[in-house]
Amino acid sequence: MNVERRGQKYFIETYGCQMNESDTERIGGQLEELGYAPADDLQDADIVILNTCSIRQNAEEKVYGKIGEVKKLKERNPKVLLGIAGCMAQENKNKLIQRMPVIDFVIGPYHIHDLKDIISRHDAVGSHVVMAELNSQRVQDYSELRAVRKSKIFAWVPIMQGCNKYCTYCIVPYVRGKETSRTIPDVYGEVKRLAEEGYKEITLLGQNVNSYGLDFRDGTNFGELIRSLDDIEGIERIRYMSSHPRDMTFDMVDAMAESSKVVRHMHLPVQHGSNAMLRRMNRGYTIEHFKELLAYVREKMPDTVITTDLITGFPGETEEMHKETLQLLEDLRFDSAYTFIYSPRRGTPAARMEDQIDDATKHRRLQEIMDVENDISLACNQQMVGKTYMVIVEGPTKQTEDNWFGRTSGNKMIIFPKEKNIAIGDTICVKVDTAQTWILKGQMVE
Ligand code: 5AD
Ligand code: SF4
Repeated sequence: MNVERRGQKYFIETYGCQMNESDTERIGGQLEELGYAPADDLQDADIVILNTCSIRQNAEEKVYGKIGEVKKLKERNPKVLLGIAGCMAQENKNKLIQRMPVIDFVIGPYHIHDLKDIISRHDAVGSHVVMAELNSQRVQDYSELRAVRKSKIFAWVPIMQGCNKYCTYCIVPYVRGKETSRTIPDVYGEVKRLAEEGYKEITLLGQNVNSYGLDFRDGTNFGELIRSLDDIEGIERIRYMSSHPRDMTFDMVDAMAESSKVVRHMHLPVQHGSNAMLRRMNRGYTIEHFKELLAYVREKMPDTVITTDLITGFPGETEEMHKETLQLLEDLRFDSAYTFIYSPRRGTPAARMEDQIDDATKHRRLQEIMDVENDISLACNQQMVGKTYMVIVEGPTKQTEDNWFGRTSGNKMIIFPKEKNIAIGDTICVKVDTAQTWILKGQMVE
């Protein structure tokens, strides 16, 4: 391989979830090893990579819009390279290039370590290159890739790839393959290195972190991983994303409660309030089980911020079932709920179900869910007024240098006037004085 790109610049646009953000950091690592430097703007780039998401139709549409933009850039400068990475790359493979020849290469999520090879092959043959096999043997190669991390304080740590759950609406198992975990020593090693480099907060990433390690079939599990990371000095907070109510065990909750580092935030997607819908979604738990789990979390870690995901307008959803979701929100009082309109995904069972819901009904139900949840989110935040929280400082707000912001262990964002010399990454105390639906405001205290 003989590629050298010193003096040239790269631009990566990331869509979708944190796993993609993390992959982008490793794609950046590969490009920098070739000599590319980061570009501030797409217009200045010699290579553009779109790291795509296919979870919902609107995520895909954004990418098509961006490809159009890069096409114009390439009309001015035909030497610019365009690569498509991420879930759309995996899903569409050769079809993407057939439809849009402006794309130079397609690189699936399991091929990030092949990026240099892809670029050199493109140089050599001067035509399109496609690498998009779902080869889960490559998870180890992935973990050895250098990451160009945006932050010096917060780091993503992928602990597994893929998903075996096959929820009937979800495209992830088809584009990310089966669950494949990194070993505990491998993850431990990366977290230890991050601690030595000064990182304070890590987020363990997986489509379903609660099934971490089960693929080894030797008893390894997420609880064991959590326990093993507890002795790493320097790391103050361990976050994790996302959980699955079917695989989360009471022992894992115990491991979190015992840990000195695991945050008091749990993102636990319930998806729907109706057992009939959960069955059709193939979620593998009931509302009763979900409530029991949540009660245990709240008993063991009373101050935990709980957030969730919901899908509205899934095929066959009746008005009564929709009301069950509204009732669940009232019963469980999540701190926030990310609500998505069901988007049919090609090749998934739900896309073939007959009783699809019309758009107007989906939008109305979305609005009703948001109206209920926004009041609950505000009420949860109002309970924080007058209390003091430890906050890791993230920096000035976009609006003004005078106001800075940071996050609590529960992942709540608090904005406060910067009163004395503080730096990004400092852990400070902030007393909350104002609550809004999405943010809190407060003052620094000693
Ligand atoms: N349509 C709408 N929302 C979806 N999600 C996953 N697949 C779909 C789909 N086809 C949502 C789920 C999941 C979140 C990441 O995206 O709520 O938890
Ligand atoms: Fe998709 Fe379900 Fe897997 Fe989550 S658990 S990634 S929703 S299949």
